[in-house]
Amino acid sequence: MPENGLGRREMLGAAGVAACGLALAGCSVEDTKAQQSLKGKVIAKTADVPVGGGMVIEDLKIVLTQPAQGVYKAFSAICTHKGCAVSTPKENVIRCACHGSEFAADSGKATKGPAIAGLAAFQVKVEGDGIVVA
Ligand code: FES
Repeated sequence: MPENGLGRREMLGAAGVAACGLALAGCSVEDTKAQQSLKGKVIAKTADVPVGGGMVIEDLKIVLTQPAQGVYKAFSAICTHKGCAVSTPKENVIRCACHGSEFAADSGKATKGPAIAGLAAFQVKVEGDGIVVA
């Protein structure tokens, strides 16, 4: 055991948090750019996003949810833990299959680790039968 009393596991965990923080700073810039470049674009049909569920738009790396009837949310589909793509939301939970993190479908907040940070949110609105980046 190292002299500072931290076991190997704790040290790896601390390094992971530090790396995650750095990655997040980069992520938010990327997400802001993505939001800008997609502004005004229809990214999905409302009919393709079930209540309590959702869909992943793989090429845009966006996950859409409908946590309550008529309420649509969009988040980055890149898990804040190590960058895997999240799975299709079910029962108002967005899961990452890589290490089991879970995120709330209404806020993107991390509800189960190892991810600590939530998914970055995209602003969207409904126009007709389409979901549009606002
Ligand atoms: S990359 Fe998602 S839980 Fe690890």
